[in-house]
Amino acid sequence: MPSFDADELLQQSRDVAERAYAPYSRFRVGAVVVDENGESYAGVNVENAAYGSGQCAEASAIGRAISAGAARIKAIAVSSPNAAPCWPCGNCRQILREFDVETVIVENADGSALVLPLGDLLPNSFGPEDLEGAGTGQQ
Ligand code: THU
Repeated sequence: MPSFDADELLQQSRDVAERAYAPYSRFRVGAVVVDENGESYAGVNVENAAYGSGQCAEASAIGRAISAGAARIKAIAVSSPNAAPCWPCGNCRQILREFDVETVIVENADGSALVLPLGDLLPNSFGPEDLEGAGTGQQ
């Protein structure tokens, strides 16, 4: 059973946020995910001159984890020097849902870790199992 240290993950997310590419919003975000084997992967938001082409930090971190072979994401820490807490946006909550994320860690105003289940951020959610039995490639 892989475990994680919430404060350590939060610190890693603060550290990686320094590398955010956010020249348009100036809002830097860092995210660190832990997979089912306890491996961690960090990511930042990557903005774009075509604003809609930007990517959130959570998506960057999950992309790295999945690219490395992770099957499930156990936990994610998200932080920003510009906001505490830095809540995952709605789209990122859905992305976390896809990979069965159990635990979300954000930063309280006093710098401590706020740990909560994804279900608190995305209740009554739609997920992969809802497509079971739908078939593929047919109307
Ligand atoms: N952002 C994230 O990286 N994650 C979130 O969950 C919230 C928003 C980024 C997107 C954009 O680059 C900047 O923060 C301002 O919205």
